[in-house]
Amino acid sequence: VPSVGFVGWRGMVGSVLMHRMQEENDFASINPVFFSTSNAGGAAPSFADGAGKLENAYDVETLAKLPIIVTAQGGDYTKQVHGELRSRGWDGLWIDAASTLRMEDDSIIVLDPINRDVIDRGLASGVKDYIGGNCTVSCMLMGLGGLFKNGLVEWGTSMTYQAASGGGARHMRELLNQFGTLNAEVSSELADPASAILEIDRKVLAHQRDGVDAAQFGVPLAGSLIPWIDSDLGNGQSREEWKAGVETNKILGTTEADRIIMDGLCVRIGAMRSHSQALTLKLREDLSVEEIEKIIDADNEWATVVPNVKEASMSELTPVAASGTLNIPVGRIRKMEMGPEYISAFTVGDQLLWGAAEPLRRMVNIATG
Ligand code: HSE
Repeated sequence: VPSVGFVGWRGMVGSVLMHRMQEENDFASINPVFFSTSNAGGAAPSFADGAGKLENAYDVETLAKLPIIVTAQGGDYTKQVHGELRSRGWDGLWIDAASTLRMEDDSIIVLDPINRDVIDRGLASGVKDYIGGNCTVSCMLMGLGGLFKNGLVEWGTSMTYQAASGGGARHMRELLNQFGTLNAEVSSELADPASAILEIDRKVLAHQRDGVDAAQFGVPLAGSLIPWIDSDLGNGQSREEWKAGVETNKILGTTEADRIIMDGLCVRIGAMRSHSQALTLKLREDLSVEEIEKIIDADNEWATVVPNVKEASMSELTPVAASGTLNIPVGRIRKMEMGPEYISAFTVGDQLLWGAAEPLRRMVNIATG
């Protein structure tokens, strides 16, 4: 039974990973060793039998004994520990949720329903670092993978509606606190149907501008949006937007000659844990909408076409519908006015599941299977 070390299993992504592994009975086929950055010597979690005590996550000697390490501890941990492990000759598999190593030449971005061939080639050729992709990119490819894998996409734009969870657990709490304090600010007026809506709006706006706690996001998100995610690359593009192009191509394993151009604007909205995105795709062929839907549906068991009608779109194609599930609904598929090769699509995915934990969970199974 292979030993697998887990670091950062208690955080938000780590907790989702642990929950999924229990649900799928993954712990039965591995010997888990749990690490902690703050509580070494404490009791390891009880969901895996015989896991013993927590090891020190900075103890490189103990880490180096393991053939596989899985981390959702974050980029700073990766920066601190991964290089040290490698420089002392550790040649185990490093499976990581953080973006730190994602674009390194000797790493692979894991999203096996889309790129199992790339992963298998990597394992065969001795690649040791397997990194989870950016949540938006992974969810987009899980939904529209059929079109990408069949070489049907010439270029695409992805305009995103990203949830608070992408920032982290504290960001989700902040969003809910903002909603709460905005409501509290005008609760007596709201209770009175005769009160003036413009007066309510004025009070809410005043509170958003001056009073609302926005320590995590920097500006209010509740009742507003933030049209910038991640750092400023200085060329007008945000780091999140840059990832769409480079990671899509790295996941698919495209070459310079068949590179797919992906670009768009990334926007934070007040959703909780599902990222949505509106896509415009320029296809290489004039396919009928029925053919396109068939290709999307057939690609993997999680991508589900939602009929492009109002009722289905409103009930099945939202963060509320997708959150907490592995389902990736894809809807609003239609030909656009620009021409027969231009299609629109809208897709939603839980950014903690397919966007973060699930590809790592599956990579552990591939590596130990
Ligand atoms: N960068 C993403 C976001 C998080 O902020 O939504 C996960 O890749």
